[in-house]
Amino acid sequence: TDIEKGTYPHFMLKEIDEQPPVIRRIIQEYQDDHDNIKLDPEVRQAMRDTDRVYIIAAGTSYHAGLVGKQFMEKLANVPVEVHIASEFSYNMPLLSEKPLFVFISQSGETADSRSVLVRIKELGHPALTITNVPGSTLSREANYTLHLHAGPEIAVASTKAYTAQIAVLAILAVDTAKAKGLDLDFDPLQELGIVASVMESLTDQKDEFEMLAKELFAETRNAFFIGRGMDYYVVQEAALKLKEISYIQAEGFAGGELKHGTIALIEDGTPVIAINTQANVNLSIRGNVQEVAARGAKTCVVSLEGLEKDTDSFVVPQVHELLTPLVSVVPMQLLAYYAALHRDCDVDKPRNLAKSVTVE
Ligand code: G6P
Repeated sequence: TDIEKGTYPHFMLKEIDEQPPVIRRIIQEYQDDHDNIKLDPEVRQAMRDTDRVYIIAAGTSYHAGLVGKQFMEKLANVPVEVHIASEFSYNMPLLSEKPLFVFISQSGETADSRSVLVRIKELGHPALTITNVPGSTLSREANYTLHLHAGPEIAVASTKAYTAQIAVLAILAVDTAKAKGLDLDFDPLQELGIVASVMESLTDQKDEFEMLAKELFAETRNAFFIGRGMDYYVVQEAALKLKEISYIQAEGFAGGELKHGTIALIEDGTPVIAINTQANVNLSIRGNVQEVAARGAKTCVVSLEGLEKDTDSFVVPQVHELLTPLVSVVPMQLLAYYAALHRDCDVDKPRNLAKSVTVE
């Protein structure tokens, strides 16, 4: 590959650091001369015309889709279903009258997603692909494409593509809201500028996360991530990052579901990492942390500025409440990176995994 790591020991670390400039590039690419959102008018029309969006994706892109659903429903009043591509292809749900399919794929080559695209085209439904590779199969075969502008992503564990996907989904949701004449007090381009600066402050504090990763993951064979609301989606991505590169068995759970099963797994020293960025669930997620701490868990709370307590492990500077996944995921990426590094794993090329899975 022509892409070089430069001074970085791994592509993953380089790509984590590239997130602020990627967000800034997205702002530029999706901004017109009057600081308004610039978007393909056909995509705008498709979003206006649909009565329900079906997001189809796999892996990390699926996790970005879960966040995207919140944007589209909360900001633009568009109902959204998010589906794992490999499930959708043989277990198709009942479709609405005017569905719009949105494929989210870093590579644009994931075979499971492609097989859904082929099916829904046969049925005559429109498709939009959100991808990092505009000439890719999913991009060519869909009616419309939105580009992530994240630059090549080499590490198997996806980082900058995830945050780029979420940023583009936020812009798309706000654009749709405006196109529908909804009154919104939220300028995504401006808010994303703040996100980029906060991301930078996080990637500047790598030592903190390296230490935290040692404390939490040096010896464990499993780890749990918990969150509620928006944070629930990010903990699923956090668990995926950790398991794919460090081989620690990790799961992300909704805080409220702990008592319905997972809490049985908590032993003395089991790491439980909580993300706490949403004011409306601050108290309830803290309650969950206490429940697991009382059973011996080694707890780590990453909270958003304004919700923090002295005992928290890390406080992330404030960003708009809807955009918190873009910043809360960065500590999780770094924790996974250092966990893998200190366990001598092959960070960029984990065993059994491929960057892009082109078989069903
Ligand atoms: C593979 C990669 C994951 C990625 C998933 C979906 O499993 O290892 O990192 O999230 O494919 O890839 P896509 O290119 O469709 O986003």
